[in-house]
Amino acid sequence: MPQIIVINQSGEESTVEAVEGRTLMETIRDGGFDELLALCGGCCSCATCHVHIDPAFVDKLPAMSDDENDLLDSSDHRNEFSRLSCQVPVTAALEGCKVTIAAED
Ligand code: FES
Repeated sequence: MPQIIVINQSGEESTVEAVEGRTLMETIRDGGFDELLALCGGCCSCATCHVHIDPAFVDKLPAMSDDENDLLDSSDHRNEFSRLSCQVPVTAALEGCKVTIAAED
């Protein structure tokens, strides 16, 4: 089980045990981070699961869909490391990845 480091909106780091095959959104939400609203439940239609991925891990993620890209464009806090966490599957390659919950729009 990869360990992922979640950084909340206050900048505090917590290590979370992730389960391969689940999404990053589920991992963070089930880890008790209320800041990650994930309002649509993971069907890529709300953008409230926005996170910034550790730059060293961006290349290890699957490519972004057009829908994800369009939704991220609606955020004022988008940067080159932005992803919707419900669209990111947990894999062993994410061991040690830092994931920062994006500021709320
Ligand atoms: S939970 Fe709604 S887009 Fe990810």
